[in-house]
Amino acid sequence: MTETDIATAESGEYRRGAEIVLDSITKRYPGQRDPAVEDFSITIPAGEIVVFVGPSGCGKTTTMRMINRLIEPTSGTITIDGRDVTSVNPDRLRRGIGYSIQQAGLFPHLSVARNIATVPGLLGWDRKRISARVDEMLELVGLDPATFRRRYPRQLSGGQQQRVGVARALAADPPVLLMDEPFGAVDPITRGLLQDELLRLQAELHKTIVFVTHDFNEAVKLGDRIAVLGNKSRILQYDTPAAILAEPADDTVAGFVGADAGLKQLTLTRVADVDRGQCPTAVDTDPVEPLRAELAEQEWKWGLILDAQRRPLRWVSADQLAHATSLWEVGQPVTGTVALRSSLQAALETLLADSTANAVVTGRRGEYAGLVTIDTLVAHLAEMRTEHSTTGPDRAEPDNPGSGSTETEHDRGSGDTPSDGADSGNTQPGGTGPDAANSGDAESDTTAPDSGDEAGS
Ligand SMILES: Nc1ncnc2c1ncn2[C@@H]1O[C@H](COP(=O)(O)OP(=O)(O)O)[C@@H](O)[C@H]1O
Ligand SMILES: [Mg+2]
Repeated sequence: MTETDIATAESGEYRRGAEIVLDSITKRYPGQRDPAVEDFSITIPAGEIVVFVGPSGCGKTTTMRMINRLIEPTSGTITIDGRDVTSVNPDRLRRGIGYSIQQAGLFPHLSVARNIATVPGLLGWDRKRISARVDEMLELVGLDPATFRRRYPRQLSGGQQQRVGVARALAADPPVLLMDEPFGAVDPITRGLLQDELLRLQAELHKTIVFVTHDFNEAVKLGDRIAVLGNKSRILQYDTPAAILAEPADDTVAGFVGADAGLKQLTLTRVADVDRGQCPTAVDTDPVEPLRAELAEQEWKWGLILDAQRRPLRWVSADQLAHATSLWEVGQPVTGTVALRSSLQAALETLLADSTANAVVTGRRGEYAGLVTIDTLVAHLAEMRTEHSTTGPDRAEPDNPGSGSTETEHDRGSGDTPSDGADSGNTQPGGTGPDAANSGDAESDTTAPDSGDEAGS
C-alpha cells in the first residue's frame, strides 16, 4: 500500500473494501511454550463484515493485530488486496487500516477534531482538506460538528467517544477497518445504537471490516460471516450467521450459540421478507355491520379498526361488536406495531406484549400492512432449518420462493450476553508488547502512556 493509495479519497466517494487473506499464520510470544495463534488461515472477502467470536484469551486480539502488524506473525503470510503486508512499511500500513478499540482509545489531551485529524495529518493533507474531512466524519457518525469539534474526550459520553473513535478510524478512508471489541465498554442500549450505526455506515461504505467480540449476539447482528474461534484461534466454524445458527459444526459451537439459537435466527429476517397474515379491517367511520358479518363468518377472532389513513387503532372482537352501534371507541387499543423493516425478533417481542398475540405490521406512513403471528414465526423457523440442513435424510428441496431469509440484512440484535469481565480487550500483559513498535504518530511525544497503544489507527 503506497501513500497515493491511501490518500486518494475524495469527499463524498468512499473507497471500498479489500480482500484480506491470512495463510497459515502462527504467533508464538517470546517465552511462551504454546503459540497464542496456531496455523490460522482465513479469507475475508472484500466489503464484508467478518466477526471473530470466541472466549476470552482464545487469540482474537493477537490474530487481528497481526493484520496491521501491531503484532508480527512468527510464521505465515498475510495479504491485503493481494499484497503481502510484510512488504509494506508498518507505519504506512497502519495509516491505510482503520483501527478502533474498546473505550475508543482517544488521545485525552487532544480535541475531537485533532483526534479525527490524526491520520490525515500524518498523510500530509492540507489544513482545509483535513478540516472538511473532520466535519464530514463527525456528520457520518451522527455528531454535530459545531458542537463536538472543540470538545475533549472527557467531555463526551461513552457512546459519543466510541463514535469519535469510529470517525477517527475512518478519517483517511481506509479500505480495511479492524475493530477490537469496540463497543464492549458501553451500556447495552448505547451498544445497540452503535451497532445499528455501524450497519448503516457499512451499507454506504462497503469497507472490509474485521470485528472482534466475545458476544455471540453481537456477532449474529453484525456479521456477514462469523468465524467461531477456539483455543489458539482454531477456527471451529466459518460461515454466515444463518448457517451457524441452523447447524452448528460441533458441540462447542452449539454451546456458544446457546439454547436460544432459534430465537437468534429471528434477528436475521425482516418482517417484509415473510408471508404475513391478514385479518378483517374497517375504518372507524365505517358502519358496524360489514365487519360484524366478516368476523362472524370467518375463523378470525379479531378485527382491526383503522383511522382514515388506514393506521391501526384498535382490536375488536365479535363479542365486543355484538351490541355496538358504531366503530368509535369500541375495542381495545393496539399497543405496539412493527415496521416492515423490523426483524422477526422485534415482531416476537411485539406480539408477546399484545393482548391478541398478534404483531400489527405497518408500512412507511404507518398504514396497516398485515400481521405477524406465532404461526408465521414457527413456519419461518421450520423453513430455516430445512434450508440449512445438509445432514437429514429427508432434506427438502430449497424451494422457498420469496423467503429471502438468508440474505436479509440484520437490523436488530437480541439482547445481550453479559460481558466477560476477564476480557478487557486492549489490556496487554506487560505493556511493552509489540504495540510499543507503533510509533507512527507525530503526537506520540505528548501522548499519555495509556493511549499510545492506539496511535496507529
Ligand atoms: N504480549 C503478550 N505476551 C505473551 N502472551 C500474550 C501476549 N498477548 C497475549 N498473550 C496471550 O496470548 C493468548 C491470546 O490472547 P489474546 O489474543 O489477547 O486473546 P483474546 O483477544 O481472544 O482475549 C492469551 O493466552 C494471552 O495471555
Ligand atoms: Mg482481546
